[in-house]
Amino acid sequence: MSKFWSPFVNSLVPYVPGEQPKIDRLVKLNTNENPYGPSAKAIAAMQAQMNDDLRLYPDPNSDLLKHAVADYYSVGPQYVFVGNGSDEVLAHAFHALFQHDKPLLFPDISYSFYPVYCGLYGIKQQVVALDENFQIRVADYQQPNGGIIFPNPNAPTGCLLELDKIEQVLTANPDSVVLVDEAYIDFGGDSAISLVKKYDNLLVTQTLSKSRSLAGLRVGIAVGHPDLIEGLERVKNSFNSYPLDRAAIAGAAAAFADADHFHFTRNKVIASREWVVEALSALGFEVLPSAANFVFARHKSRDAQELAAQLREQGVLVRHFKQERIEQFLRISIGTDEQNQILIDVLKNCI
Ligand SMILES: Cc1ncc(COP(=O)(O)O)c(C=O)c1O
Repeated sequence: MSKFWSPFVNSLVPYVPGEQPKIDRLVKLNTNENPYGPSAKAIAAMQAQMNDDLRLYPDPNSDLLKHAVADYYSVGPQYVFVGNGSDEVLAHAFHALFQHDKPLLFPDISYSFYPVYCGLYGIKQQVVALDENFQIRVADYQQPNGGIIFPNPNAPTGCLLELDKIEQVLTANPDSVVLVDEAYIDFGGDSAISLVKKYDNLLVTQTLSKSRSLAGLRVGIAVGHPDLIEGLERVKNSFNSYPLDRAAIAGAAAAFADADHFHFTRNKVIASREWVVEALSALGFEVLPSAANFVFARHKSRDAQELAAQLREQGVLVRHFKQERIEQFLRISIGTDEQNQILIDVLKNCI
């Protein structure tokens, strides 16, 4: 606390990201990064930016990237917004679209940054409990609200909501923005971007941090009706005109163009996920159905926090949340085959 702070800073409860350890040789399965490297074409495109042109500002509109995303999803570039990681895109969406008299609705178990943005921007929030199987119940989103947001697949559960159910939420809430946070959609679901031309109240965000292996580059996107995008642009241009640097614009655009690399790594992660689910089940874990690059699992007799600590002692990092309803779960990112094998071997010893 400091007398120099603006008063609202005292009441902020900042987000706590997963640990980024400075220790070598850890099996790092705690922040849902991709275990495989990014596209070689993306790296080459970034390297090509390392020249004298760095003295110049980048394109404030990131047009190259917007067109790459627009081509990929067959929408016009006016449907596309880009930012410094989807966290920044989400922040602008909260600021531009969710500051209303009625509360923002989101699931009780979902991305823990949502309440943080509500705190930052003074947005009223109302959490809506997932059902007993940790699924979103669409009927619960038919109540007065100033907006709706949920991850799909949900995080940290990994559970997917089908597109027809998302359409039910959209049609029941024509006067609210429904933001579908698709950080993990490439690992097992159909993107709601296919619906943006049909619903002017739908905004979909995605990240290049997961399925495109570029967490270190910090690039996120939003796709939605041009009026929603204009709202985001107004906030972005009142905050930072150049959120993406030259390397990020070129690398992210090249990543969208490299379909082969994308499909190869994504399919590998999906196949490994099925292996991990079977191996965990054989060890006595209940694993929620996952459409993401992580699994959410609880053991029938072992305490999750203790297990996470034991795993860490043996060099395996997973994520544990001290939150009601899920304190007995571990969120485990899918690694390489070798990392997954180490995870299972170490767990066998612990259990
Ligand atoms: C559900 C969800 N949304 C958004 C993000 C943010 O992703 P990034 O800021 O890396 O694009 C994450 C990161 O883990 C996430 O889990």
